[in-house]
Amino acid sequence: MVQLPMVDLKKQFQSIKAEIDREMQEVLESAIFIGGPKVNAFREQLETYLQVKHVIPCANGTDALQIAMMAIGLKPGDEVIVPAFTYVATAEVIGLLGLTPVMTDVDPETFNITPELIEAAITPKTKAIVPVHLFGQCADMEAIMALAAKHQLWVIEDNAQAIGADYKGNTVNGKSGTLGHIGCTSFFPSKNLGCYGDGGAITTNDDDLAYACRMIANHGQSKQYYHDMIGVNSRLDAMQAGVLNVKLPHLDRYNAARQRAAEYYDQHLGQLPQLLPPGRSVQSTHVFHQYTLRLNVPNPREVREALKAHLQNLGIPMMVYYPVPLYDQPAFNSYWKGGTLPVTEQLCATVFSLPMHSELDEDQLKYICEGVRTFFK
Ligand SMILES: Cc1ncc(COP(=O)(O)O)c(C=O)c1O
Repeated sequence: MVQLPMVDLKKQFQSIKAEIDREMQEVLESAIFIGGPKVNAFREQLETYLQVKHVIPCANGTDALQIAMMAIGLKPGDEVIVPAFTYVATAEVIGLLGLTPVMTDVDPETFNITPELIEAAITPKTKAIVPVHLFGQCADMEAIMALAAKHQLWVIEDNAQAIGADYKGNTVNGKSGTLGHIGCTSFFPSKNLGCYGDGGAITTNDDDLAYACRMIANHGQSKQYYHDMIGVNSRLDAMQAGVLNVKLPHLDRYNAARQRAAEYYDQHLGQLPQLLPPGRSVQSTHVFHQYTLRLNVPNPREVREALKAHLQNLGIPMMVYYPVPLYDQPAFNSYWKGGTLPVTEQLCATVFSLPMHSELDEDQLKYICEGVRTFFK
């Protein structure tokens, strides 16, 4: 029976196996597993690719967010604005640091936080905004940066899902993750740029923030065994850097393959009245970390379960990112003022994501689309 994966890392590996084998062998023979030339080479390669002054590699995307918030010097009680429709990590670190996550609704088409929703959530305690570039396209960073300047707020981009996306505004331009004061990304294996374990990075053009991040990621150490502040232990290891050194030069090609798959889905599923394909932002390219549709039917949660079972029988996986608003998660209840956010509620009830990766071929796409279409016949 056919069994398609959501992400085909095995097939991708086969196409870069010789390069990966060489990198792994070099790391093993060097016996330098933490820091060293592989990590430095990756840092430089990513700085060049993103056209950003500083990349600070770290252990994962969640740490990147935490280190960024520590570097900015946020204090317990400070409010940080985040979308309620996101992966938990975005808000988790805010709670962990004793800060207060203030959750807002999102745009129904792009699934991203908007300047209007942010502005409505600003209070005298607000210190930072975390726009999440959800599923692969940037939030409206030009307007968000203008708002941040007006209210003197920090902007920390959660770029875990959008590495490689290009943003083009009038005054704010460049790669996702380099548009705010500080950007955070994840190299979790299934991400657009994924390693073979955990990994993450912080990006910034600000020398002081970069210095603080480097220090915090390394036990708050300014020089060996001298600790200026409380930090953490968060490092990208040499094996993961080796994998990323191989994969980064392929990132644009991988993202282009995802975009072609998204176009195919648009063309073959976009006409179904029961489905709404993902909307596109005007200023940002979309690198399709996920291809996420909305159900346009009564009782969407039931229909979604039935669709999932139907696809499962055909060997087609389908995921729901994300089924529960952040404020309805027990971990976040205490931060919530009560009530609901209408778009977030609607998205949690209606969204589903289809297989999306750099190795999808036309036969697979055809099979997936036919599988979805037969369900609605
Ligand atoms: C939006 C978002 N933020 C943060 C993270 C955290 O990244 P990591 O899993 O590397 O800690 C993820 C990844 O899962 C994510 O999707």
